[in-house]
Amino acid sequence: MNDFVYSYPVKVYFGTDAAKKAISQEMGKYGKRVMLAYGGGSVRKNGTYDAVAAMLREAGKEIVDCPGIMPNPTYQKVQEGAALAREQRIDFILAVGGGSVIDCCKIISAQAKTRRDIWQMEFEDREYPTEFIPMGAIVTATGTGAEMNNGAVITHEEKKIKTGVLGAFASFAALDLRFMMSLPARQVISGGFDTLSHCMETYFGSPRTANVSDEINEAVMRNTIRNLRVAAKDVHDEAARRELAWDSAMAENGILKLGKVTDFQAHMIEHQLGAYTDCNHGCGLAVIHPPLYRHICRDATERFAHFAEAVWGVDGSGKTREETALAGIEALAAFIREIGLPTTFAELGVEPDEDMLRAVADSTNIQPGYCRRLTTDEIFAILMACR
Ligand code: NZQ
Ligand code: ZN
Repeated sequence: MNDFVYSYPVKVYFGTDAAKKAISQEMGKYGKRVMLAYGGGSVRKNGTYDAVAAMLREAGKEIVDCPGIMPNPTYQKVQEGAALAREQRIDFILAVGGGSVIDCCKIISAQAKTRRDIWQMEFEDREYPTEFIPMGAIVTATGTGAEMNNGAVITHEEKKIKTGVLGAFASFAALDLRFMMSLPARQVISGGFDTLSHCMETYFGSPRTANVSDEINEAVMRNTIRNLRVAAKDVHDEAARRELAWDSAMAENGILKLGKVTDFQAHMIEHQLGAYTDCNHGCGLAVIHPPLYRHICRDATERFAHFAEAVWGVDGSGKTREETALAGIEALAAFIREIGLPTTFAELGVEPDEDMLRAVADSTNIQPGYCRRLTTDEIFAILMACR
C-alpha cells in the first residue's frame, strides 16, 4: 500500500427518488440560471427531460438547454457549450446523461470560466483549471462512473486524440434507477464491462502484493460479473441494475485506487481506437482486454493467477501458476462472449486496416505501471491480435 491522502467531494444520492431529493436539497445553494445539458434525445423521448425540468422549476430555476452532446463527446462540443454558458450567464450546469454528457459538462464548466484554450493549457502549458461553474449529474447510463471523478474523456477531432482532460467534479450525483431503465440492453452490458475494466486496470497497477484496496476490488469485480450475468438474461432486473450502478460508482470513486498506482493501459489503447473509429467504449475494451492480458500475463504471473482464483473461481490445484493465470484470462474471454460483447474488431463493427492500427498504436499513451511498460510495437501486435 503506497501513501495517500483521501478526500472526496461528490455527494451521492442513490436509489428511489434520488434525483428529486438531490435537486430539492442541493439546488438552493446555487444561482437561478441552470444549464440543462443532455445527449442526442433519449431524455426527450423517455420523459426524463420533462421530469427533471419540472424538478428544477419547482426549485425556482430558469432553464437553458444544452442539447446534442454526442457519445464520445468532442472538443468542438465543449467549446459550443462553454460559449452558451458564458452568453447565458449560467450559474449551475446539470448534466443529465451517461459518461459522455457528464464528461462534456466537466470541461464546459472549466472552459466557460477562462478565455484560455483548455486543451492547450493542460497539454502544452501543463496548467490545470482552478475555476469552475458548479455542476451536478443525474446519471442515466451507468458503467463509466464519470459522475464520481473530475477526469473527462474528450475527443479532439482535428488532432485525432481521445484523452482525459481534467475539469470539474460534480458537487452532487444522483443515481436514480427511474432514469436508467430505458437504457438499451447492449449499452447496459457494455457499460457494465467498462466498470469491470476500471476495476481490472486498477488491480493490475502497482503494488500487486496483497492490500485492502485490491481485496475490496475483488469483491466489486465478482459483484459486477454476477450482476452482468443477470442483466444479460433480463436487462429489466432492477436489483441487478442497482448493484451495477453502485459497482460503476465504486470503481471510479477513488476507494479502489487508494494506495495504488493505476495503469489504464487498455483504456489508453481503446481511447485511440475510439479516436479513429468512434466505437462504443465498453465494447472496444471487451475486444482489447484478453489479447492485452495474454500478452503481458507472464510479467505478473502471480497476480494474474490470484485474479483467476479470487475473481473467476479457477481451481489452481494441479496447475502451474502460469496455467492458472492463463485460465483466468480465458475465463474473462469466455465471459465476454457469454454476455454478448464483441471479441474481435469485426464483431465490434470496425475493420481497421494495418495503417490505421499502426496510427492507433503510435498515438496511444503508454502507461508505466502495468506489469511493465509496453512498446509501441507491442501495442501494434496486440491490436493486430484483436482482428
Ligand atoms: O445521447 P442519448 O440520446 O441520450 O443516448 C445515449 C447514447 O447514445 C444513450 N442513453 C443514455 N442514457 C439513456 C440512453 N438511452 C436510453 N435511455 C437512457 N436512460 O446511451 C448512449 C451512450 O451514452 P454515453 O454517455 O456515450 O455512454 P457511457 O456512459 O458509456 O459514456 C461513454 C463515454 O464516457 C467515457 C468514454 O470514453 C465515452 O466517451 N468514459 C469516461 C470516464 C470517466 N469520466 O471517468 C471513464 C471511462 O473509462 C470512459 O472512458
Ligand atoms: Zn472506461
